[in-house]
Amino acid sequence: MAERKLLEVLKGRTAFPPPVWLMRQAGRYLPEYREARRKAGSFLDLCYNPDFAVEVTLQPIRRFGFDAAILFSDILVVPHALGRDLRFEEGLGPLMTPIGAEEAVALSMDGFHEHLKPVYETVRRLRQELPEEAALIGFCGAPWTVATYMIAGRGTADQAPARLFSYRHPEALSRLLDDIAAASADYLIRQIDEGADAVQIFDSWAGVLDEKSFDRWCIRPVAEIVRRVRQKHPTTPIIGFPKGAGWLYRRYRRETGVKGLGLDWTVPLDEAGRLQMEGAVQGNLDPMRLVAGGKALSEGVKSIMSALSGGPFIFNLGHGITPETPVEHVQAMINQVREEQSWQPT
Ligand code: CP3
Repeated sequence: MAERKLLEVLKGRTAFPPPVWLMRQAGRYLPEYREARRKAGSFLDLCYNPDFAVEVTLQPIRRFGFDAAILFSDILVVPHALGRDLRFEEGLGPLMTPIGAEEAVALSMDGFHEHLKPVYETVRRLRQELPEEAALIGFCGAPWTVATYMIAGRGTADQAPARLFSYRHPEALSRLLDDIAAASADYLIRQIDEGADAVQIFDSWAGVLDEKSFDRWCIRPVAEIVRRVRQKHPTTPIIGFPKGAGWLYRRYRRETGVKGLGLDWTVPLDEAGRLQMEGAVQGNLDPMRLVAGGKALSEGVKSIMSALSGGPFIFNLGHGITPETPVEHVQAMINQVREEQSWQPT
């Protein structure tokens, strides 16, 4: 079998047209997802039931033929498996009991893998059911991003509670991130054991950290995950997505050792091109261009393709697709990425 395109690119080769997949490609913008979600009951029931999780992971592959599927789950199943409570409320997103500085030292791995067994089964079944040419991406949240939800107990606009915690209780945060990193590495290793071809580490809140904090709370724990996963699976590519890292993207790749770099939409394309000289980049269409469609969409796709399709590149959004995205816009975007020849490198 020829190697899956996404994996080729993550090894530094150029593929044309580039592989394409979207963060949150299984989700509420799809009528078939909303239907499955209704049947499953809660969002967490969907995550922990392999029949449903396999089904919703495959939905966007069937509909659009993406080059990669991403396991359907959530980054917060890791703290959940570490014994923290978790629920999702319509319109509010995730809710947890905020963790205090004293508790942050007492996370236990007892029952961790047992709790996540349905996720491992989902991965195993997905690798069997996916088309040969589609890559399967496993994932986890980066320790900092996971911790922001554990500390605030909910999503916030700027993660002020977690930032404050980091200055008031650096030792407690350090231990908390060490525990999350160790658990997340084990979790990724198990996903790869079951058939994940590549893994992505989502650090959606990397961009709220100042330089020193970025080194300490973003780079250091992610480097530890990479080191542990590599020890067990040296050839499985790891994609890092430190959203909002700006000037620190380059340092992030060099110091964590991730192969692929997920770029948010604020990264200028000439800078993206420079980052691409050190390895594969993924991104970075503004999800709102996809909602808007028309010229906003086609111009966005065109400039990204012109700038990046001549090197190792994975077409994606700069963050997750949003529920109000019209399904036809997604198809139009894929067609443009796959058909347009004008940016073909000569
Ligand atoms: O990309 C995929 O298709 C795989 C599945 C996936 C989900 N969440 C499903 C989901 C992945 C990779 C995630 C990651 C995730 N989860 C992140 C990092 C990436 C990012 O988007 O920033 C974060 C911060 C979370 C935590 C989380 N989960 C939040 C803040 C929310 C609420 C926001 C919302 O859109 O409602 C979720 C819920 C969630 N995770 C949904 C999905 C499909 C929506 C739940 C529903 O169906 O009601």
